[in-house]
Amino acid sequence: MRVDASTRALVTGASRGIGRALAEALAARGAAVGLVARGADELEALAARLGPRAVALPCDVGDPAQVSAAVERFAEESGGLELAIANAGIAHYGRFEDQDPELHERMTRINWLGTVHTARAALPHLRGGGGGQLAIVSSGAGLRAFPDAAVYGATKAAQRAFAEALRHELAGSGVSVTTIYPGEIESELHAHEKATMPEWYHGEERAAEPAALARAVLAGIEADRRSVAYPREVRLLALNAVAPGLVDALLRRLRGPSAAPRRR
Ligand SMILES: NC(=O)c1ccc[n+]([C@@H]2O[C@H](COP(=O)([O-])OP(=O)(O)OC[C@H]3O[C@@H](n4cnc5c(N)ncnc54)[C@H](OP(=O)(O)O)[C@@H]3O)[C@@H](O)[C@H]2O)c1
Repeated sequence: MRVDASTRALVTGASRGIGRALAEALAARGAAVGLVARGADELEALAARLGPRAVALPCDVGDPAQVSAAVERFAEESGGLELAIANAGIAHYGRFEDQDPELHERMTRINWLGTVHTARAALPHLRGGGGGQLAIVSSGAGLRAFPDAAVYGATKAAQRAFAEALRHELAGSGVSVTTIYPGEIESELHAHEKATMPEWYHGEERAAEPAALARAVLAGIEADRRSVAYPREVRLLALNAVAPGLVDALLRRLRGPSAAPRRR
């Protein structure tokens, strides 16, 4: 698909970070953009900045009825939907046994089930227009999960598995799926846990710009790529499926022993 002024696109998690950069990139192409997040004030301010074709759609992606209502409202007001980006997510890092189980449920509900609810609400509209694209923002952690982020990584791997199957399932329907694997990107994702991040995390000093990721995502969507990894070296984590020892060794070298403390 081409992303231009004829595109009607909905982005979840649009109020900050990666989602906001995606919404800005879409609006810069002239697309109508539906902005989903919980914080209504941030969304309204962003919509006002992006122009009359941007619509604030406050909603919790963990609640299927809210997601459905937001998607229906946008499709009705804009006259259709060609692109849906399931990006909303939260992170809570820490040792699994020390974490409050409530955080495990919250990450599962927002990151994983939020993706399912978004896909379910968007697909009839994407099909209805004769063709469209669903993009799912997973993570490098969905290719190789990291210690101190076991449940977060599991939600990102669930998104990957879901997108892989759905892309094939939708063959011939005119609708396709692209999975996004960001590495460390500047955002507010870890703002609440800066002081307790694991040693292997380098995002504070080395995070990439969300606008650069957004450009790569739009190019990947236009080319109907199966996946987009950004920065590109994130793709190396996919080797974990066939050579986990090699990836461990690579990560120990690049990120230190805390990235892979066991030798086998
Ligand atoms: N930043 C990175 O380094 C990185 C790396 C790999 C993958 N990712 C993934 O990228 C995605 C975006 O993260 P980010 O880094 O841009 O984080 P962020 O700056 O914290 O933005 C998260 C966005 O999601 C929204 N959100 C959170 N919970 C929500 C809910 N229940 N319903 C609707 N919206 C919700 C937030 O708005 P409200 O709080 O107002 O709802 C916000 O707009 C996530 O899926 C994350 O896992 C990020």
